[in-house]
Amino acid sequence: MKDNKISQSLRRRALACLQATDPQIKIQLSLQLYQELQEDLLVIDKRMPVDSPCTAGFPEKPELVPVYQLPKRKIASLEGHAALIHSFAHIEFNAINIAWDAVYRFSFMPTQYYLDWAKIAKEEAYHFSLIDDYLREMGYQYGSFQAHNDLWNMVSETAHDVMVRMALVPRVLEARGLDVTPTIISKFKQHNYQRATEILEIIYHDEIGHVEVGSQWFNHLCEKRGLDPVETFGNLIQQYASDKIRKPFNEFARLKAGFTQVELELLDTCAK
Ligand SMILES: [Fe+2]
Repeated sequence: MKDNKISQSLRRRALACLQATDPQIKIQLSLQLYQELQEDLLVIDKRMPVDSPCTAGFPEKPELVPVYQLPKRKIASLEGHAALIHSFAHIEFNAINIAWDAVYRFSFMPTQYYLDWAKIAKEEAYHFSLIDDYLREMGYQYGSFQAHNDLWNMVSETAHDVMVRMALVPRVLEARGLDVTPTIISKFKQHNYQRATEILEIIYHDEIGHVEVGSQWFNHLCEKRGLDPVETFGNLIQQYASDKIRKPFNEFARLKAGFTQVELELLDTCAK
């Protein structure tokens, strides 16, 4: 910490990022906060009490509807392509909130935990801005299509325990992205959506690292609590996400992201 600067609370500022509703302001605040962290201008206040319920800032649009109400579109049409890209924008917007919520909500974690999730927030803000710029080039923007709220519902359901959060948000919901993204990338290549391909390749690469962070902290917390990580992961899936495990798995990416072979076998038995 530099003596000549007024120190500020990383976690208090993370809450401001989390609660920002305007996408451009959320990105600006996120990048600025990470920059200040890099410049050693912030205190990582592990003891800070958490008094805010699990609410995050979302813009008025997109309109959120149940997932089954989202229309299916063909990606060969520009509108269909834009709608699929928009679904990635929604995931990335949620992902910024997920990362800042992880920083804000959970006290008494090691310093590295807060550094890891702040870095993820910065990368998610970058992903969102790549996608939003591309949507605008196509004449759309974030909010042009409907979206669903499944990701944030799981964030709310896991707000009481960081171990449960690490198991179910990065290691179930975000890991699903690792399974499906390569197929979408190859479809974009077939349709010569070059920019979309480049953006998704960046996201895919970074998301392996994000899921790996989830794996590391889940394993750390299991060890600290004397719990068997595989058994615990299985129990949490049964309790919270029994309908959310779908094959096929991208075993290569999942192994890189910290899943063990035994966990992949466990997931296989849980899959729909
Ligand atoms: Fe992302």
